[in-house]
Amino acid sequence: MTFLLDHSLQGFLLIEGQSLVVRYANTAFCELVRRPRSEVEGSRFRDVLPCAASEDCLRRTSRVAREGVSQSHSIEVNVPGALVPLTWELQLSPVDGSATSARHVLVQIMDMTESIEFREQMVRINEKLIVSSIAQQELAEKAEKLNAELGRALSVRDDFIAIASHELRTPLTSLDLQQQLLELTLESVQGDVISKDIVRKALDITNRQIQKLARLVESMLDLSRINQGLLRTRIEDVDLGALVSDLIAGMSNEITSARTTVDLIVEGKVTGRWDASRVEQVCVNLLTNALKYGERRPVIVRVTRQGANAQVSVRDSGLGIAEVDHERIFQRFERAVSYKHISGLGIGLFIAREIAEAYGGSITVKSEPGCGATFTFEIPLFAARNVTDLGDEQTG
Ligand SMILES: Nc1ncnc2c1ncn2[C@@H]1O[C@H](COP(=O)(O)OP(=O)(O)OP(=O)(O)O)[C@@H](O)[C@H]1O
Ligand SMILES: [Mg+2]
Repeated sequence: MTFLLDHSLQGFLLIEGQSLVVRYANTAFCELVRRPRSEVEGSRFRDVLPCAASEDCLRRTSRVAREGVSQSHSIEVNVPGALVPLTWELQLSPVDGSATSARHVLVQIMDMTESIEFREQMVRINEKLIVSSIAQQELAEKAEKLNAELGRALSVRDDFIAIASHELRTPLTSLDLQQQLLELTLESVQGDVISKDIVRKALDITNRQIQKLARLVESMLDLSRINQGLLRTRIEDVDLGALVSDLIAGMSNEITSARTTVDLIVEGKVTGRWDASRVEQVCVNLLTNALKYGERRPVIVRVTRQGANAQVSVRDSGLGIAEVDHERIFQRFERAVSYKHISGLGIGLFIAREIAEAYGGSITVKSEPGCGATFTFEIPLFAARNVTDLGDEQTG
């Protein structure tokens, strides 16, 4: 038996149950603790254990000797020559004594350091794998989301092209019709004289359609300028009350076509430094909407000063907008009505808000379906710093 133990690669000790004195130590153990066998054998177990937790170990050994039941436990030891503490697993087995000797305990020592390190490494690798698989999953989800967004963007673009073509075709058809009418009139007229009234009427209609076309093209150009961050501005002193009053006068044809009226209330003098054409563009967009969606009911425009801001509010008593749509309608191509019922590209409010925000201002809406809508455009009296002052340079 001792021959076998002496040739084992694991350390073995035989401890006397009561005195806890080492009666036998194999070669592997002596090499582990770097002590000669003569020194180990005959010493107390506590003196050969190179660890701080020896009290616990001794208690366990006594118990195994007393109760005759095996047990195992781990201890951390600092053996001479080892660079790091080692982890030993001790298997304590009772060895029944003879009539003359008391019960002994056979201690089998297994160095688990490497396998524990291996296990810890595996845990670390596993953790890394989990982290990377979570990251992979997140990437896959992001890719899926991007894909869906791309799909939506493409379908929105296609819708936009369809609507834009429809919108552009309407004034073109009307122009075409006017031209044909004029030709018919020319052919049917006696002599060389055409009534001034006929020419004036034809000119009015063509002018309106040309303006409509120009506005549509300008909006589409603005949209692409915004997309490229190229919406330019030219800062100058502006009398907001006068600006709004002029633009209402300039829109008299549209107001008449919408079969309604627009009342303007200007409270005090409201002046600031902005790009007049951009501020006008915002007001025109809001007013055009009020005429378009206002169901022929009167529109009220109010220009006021609110502290350091100027404010233009446009109130109509028409269709109104459900609360769920209040934010959406400010997004590109978003509409709350079908273009088959009321024409539009769905970019007017988007452009208006972009301009307002470029000046550090805002556009908000208050509305309920069937109760009309109030759009409020607020803008600091002095342009915010992020608006480029292009001096005399042309806008566009
Ligand atoms: N005063 C209003 N009353 C009711 N709905 C409105 C009003 N103003 C805007 N809307 C809703 O918001 C949507 C977006 O308005 P927006 O001005 O951006 O686009 P549009 O009028 O449809 O087209 P366009 O780009 O030609 O102006 C409209 O389609 C409409 O559904
Ligand atoms: Mg509009």
